[in-house]
Amino acid sequence: MPAIHSSLNFYLKPLFLSHSSISFSKFAIPKQVLSPRNLCALASAESAASHNGGRSGALSPPTVTEELQRIDVNPPKGTRDFPPEDMRLRNWLFHNFREVSRLFGFEEVDFPVLESEALFIRKAGEEIRDQLYCFEDRGNRRVALRPELTPSLARLVIQKGKSVPLPLKWFAVGQCWRYERMTRGRRREHYQWNMDIIGVPEVTAEAELISSIITFFKRIGISESDVGFRVSSRKVLQEVLRCYSIPENLFGKVCIIIDKIEKLPLDVIKNDLKSAGISEEAIEELLRVLSIKSLTELEEILGGAGEAVADLKLLFSLVENFGYSDWIQFDASVVRGLAYYTGIVFECFDRDGKLRAICGGGRYDRLLSTFGGDDIPACGFGFGDAVIVELLKEKGLLPELDLQVENIVCALDHNLQGAAATVATILRGKGQSVDLVLESKPLKWVFKRAARINAQRLILVGNTEWQKGMVGVKILSSGEQYEIKLDELE
Ligand code: HAM
Repeated sequence: MPAIHSSLNFYLKPLFLSHSSISFSKFAIPKQVLSPRNLCALASAESAASHNGGRSGALSPPTVTEELQRIDVNPPKGTRDFPPEDMRLRNWLFHNFREVSRLFGFEEVDFPVLESEALFIRKAGEEIRDQLYCFEDRGNRRVALRPELTPSLARLVIQKGKSVPLPLKWFAVGQCWRYERMTRGRRREHYQWNMDIIGVPEVTAEAELISSIITFFKRIGISESDVGFRVSSRKVLQEVLRCYSIPENLFGKVCIIIDKIEKLPLDVIKNDLKSAGISEEAIEELLRVLSIKSLTELEEILGGAGEAVADLKLLFSLVENFGYSDWIQFDASVVRGLAYYTGIVFECFDRDGKLRAICGGGRYDRLLSTFGGDDIPACGFGFGDAVIVELLKEKGLLPELDLQVENIVCALDHNLQGAAATVATILRGKGQSVDLVLESKPLKWVFKRAARINAQRLILVGNTEWQKGMVGVKILSSGEQYEIKLDELE
């Protein structure tokens, strides 16, 4: 065997050299040709050509005026590459997102990452607006990279109109962009899993969503001792504001100010509320209500007749029926930072308090009318891909996801490369994954590669066996080896 390989190497080496010299002469431009002046000429010629080609919508290449420079090999700050090992983790996570959505009977949807900027501009002073990646395209349209999926979903629901029967149960997994201050689990680009129910006014919908998130946690090994949901309703604040005759149109703004209560000094919050037109008396009452941590206490203050208490009591009893009471607690200080929520709001945190919110959502019954559509009751949640990975790391729960290719197929002679390709095709046709060795390599190399890709079988295509219509098989875990007819290879 080694003799065959060394002779193969002898023949192959000159061949490779001649190949590489062909490819270099094809793609590399001699240095003296790349003078700045020539590059400019090249760029303007290309740009003229693209202008002649009519309106493509694509930007013409920038004029090259300087010597070519080494590029920074890191992705832009706050964004990520996904090399194979990270991609395996991402695929595992998304597979679980999709599987849970399927278990709950949701259909997958998606929207463009680039949307019209107007979709994300709301007047309430949300942080998300200042974090928008936005620009003007070549047609002078203001566009933005989506910071979240909910406005796109609302747009699509309006576009579909009455053609789709309610309720809709839609889920999406998509990339979102926010120019955010980087902290652990917060990035400038992240993926969000969203599940939304459109057309159900009852809190049965919120209970179903919370139960789907818990199902996800349980699948990946996270328990109620690791994470907990803090739940409230914006109707709590609404009822307090109503008592003080504060106009409805201030509601979104008040919620956004209050959402910052844990990030800013209390004086700043009070001042902001005052500037928004809220009386001192109302501010004090708001702050008192926000500190409530039990539903009984809330009922004592607001009375049992209002929607806030009724919704929350029903939600907690439904969650109890799902068997998930230990996962959730009432916390009046949860209001969420997006203006469109109108009812139940919830966020999920790690119990050690080390990380930012793992996911969050709520009811947004009036978002559609802000885009000119008819309002339809709706609720949903967004679950990011970054914080959950931090939590899994923290708990030692990251799955082991090694590359796994079932077979490695190798020709023992250069002339048998075609025969090895035939074997690979047969196996792939039977649904088996195959790493085909594409060059002539010593067996030592093949075994090393087989170990790296965790192959179960090594299939060797040798001259003598091939002439008998057979191949050699080695089971790599046991070392067992045998010859088998090609048509018996499973
Ligand atoms: P959100 O609370 O802004 O809500 O984001 C939802 C989740 O996305 C967060 O809990 C977090 O897991 C993740 N996330 C947000 N920003 C970042 C970031 N910069 N880096 C990493 N992860 C991040 C929404 O976006 C709502 N649209 C959710 C929703 C859907 N409400 C109803 N339906």
